[in-house]
Amino acid sequence: MDHFLYRNGVLHAEDVAIPDIAAAVGTPFYVYSTATLTRHFRLFEEALAGLPHLVCFAMKSNGNVAVVKTLGDLGAGIDVVSVGEYLKARTAGVPGSRIVFSGVGKSREEMRTALEGGIRQFNVESEPEMRALNEVALSLGLRAPIAIRVNPDVDAKTHEKIATGKKENKFGIPIGRASEVYAEAAALPGLDVVGIDVHIGSQLTDLQPFEAAYAKVADLTRQLRAEGHDIRRLDLGGGLGIPYERTNAAPPLPLDYGAVIKRTVGDLGCEIEIEPGRLISGNAGLLVAQVIYVKSGEERDFLILDAAMNDLVRPSMYGAHHDIVPVIESAPGVEPHPYDIVGPVCETGDTFARQRPLSPVGEGDLVAFRSAGAYGAVMASEYNARPLVPEVLVHGHQFAVIRARPTYDEMINRDSIPSWL
Ligand code: LLP
Repeated sequence: MDHFLYRNGVLHAEDVAIPDIAAAVGTPFYVYSTATLTRHFRLFEEALAGLPHLVCFAMKSNGNVAVVKTLGDLGAGIDVVSVGEYLKARTAGVPGSRIVFSGVGKSREEMRTALEGGIRQFNVESEPEMRALNEVALSLGLRAPIAIRVNPDVDAKTHEKIATGKKENKFGIPIGRASEVYAEAAALPGLDVVGIDVHIGSQLTDLQPFEAAYAKVADLTRQLRAEGHDIRRLDLGGGLGIPYERTNAAPPLPLDYGAVIKRTVGDLGCEIEIEPGRLISGNAGLLVAQVIYVKSGEERDFLILDAAMNDLVRPSMYGAHHDIVPVIESAPGVEPHPYDIVGPVCETGDTFARQRPLSPVGEGDLVAFRSAGAYGAVMASEYNARPLVPEVLVHGHQFAVIRARPTYDEMINRDSIPSWL
């Protein structure tokens, strides 16, 4: 459920009409709903009720400081994967004690900044990384709290580019080697081994892979405890999928996911961390674009938008589906028309949808991409010298620009010309 509904035929974000935002900020733009972000965060809170837990929003899905602050102010922890994300989370007012540092290649510099600034835990992904963290912590006279990410060799049954839990993937250490790696970690004086971390992939629409992975983590917890490790936290990663197509069977709910967690690891007395990104931010955002031209081809009609693959790369990168809807609802009884919906970028890959039925629209009309709050703005680029699109946050009747569109001068002046030119 989200808070982007039609009122009197006009698409709204909460109580704000989308055309009003378009008039104020121009198109294209991303718009996020505070109510939807809040609702989705709370669903996870409810799903884990009864267990000691911390829901850590994966800010790689949406890193805007205002979005992170919205969630941080509700008590969310934050899962970061770079020092840039760490610093943004701190700017959003999230204390280090609620920040988990994930990622397969943290540099020593990143480790140092997070250790000095305060960090809940590092999720360590390899032995060389573990040894580097030990050295950095010792050089600062600190002990780094760590969980070691294990790769459970479970098929997440998702898109190959976002599956992470198979043994051929680059993530974590093979679960079969955990005993050996934990023994080495425990002997390193700069490390404090607090738990186990696992994340098997993203946009999972079936709970079975979670169940299989978490059952393996439960077995490993018992084994490592028997070997003398004080395993007190389990970070179970993110990955619960969202309904991108409203026509499809809905993916499992956070409550069902919580039941899997309780069933598999609930009796271990561990504090549970999860790292959902997409389920919190995905359906809390729209990308709004304007139709520049309708081009009638020999075989098909093209809807040419002012948004392009550089603004929302998921369709060209993963073949992902986003529902695209008109901002002004069509009159009842109007037949949808099939369009190829494309952007102005100079490659065929800049196609959002092929032969997508949409109520007829014309030049100047607004359309909205649904489910664009996750992995949308964060993956945008300035390809074709197209400035990054602005982001807007709505809260009831209010809206605010939370990232302004750069001017052409700002974009151009980031380049500099060397003295020999
Ligand atoms: N934790 C870790 C360690 C992760 O690698 C990820 C996502 C998450 C949590 C959050 O997963 P989520 O709950 O959002 O599924 N750009 C791709 C998705 C990449 C996901 C990367 N890791 C897309 O647009 O579909």
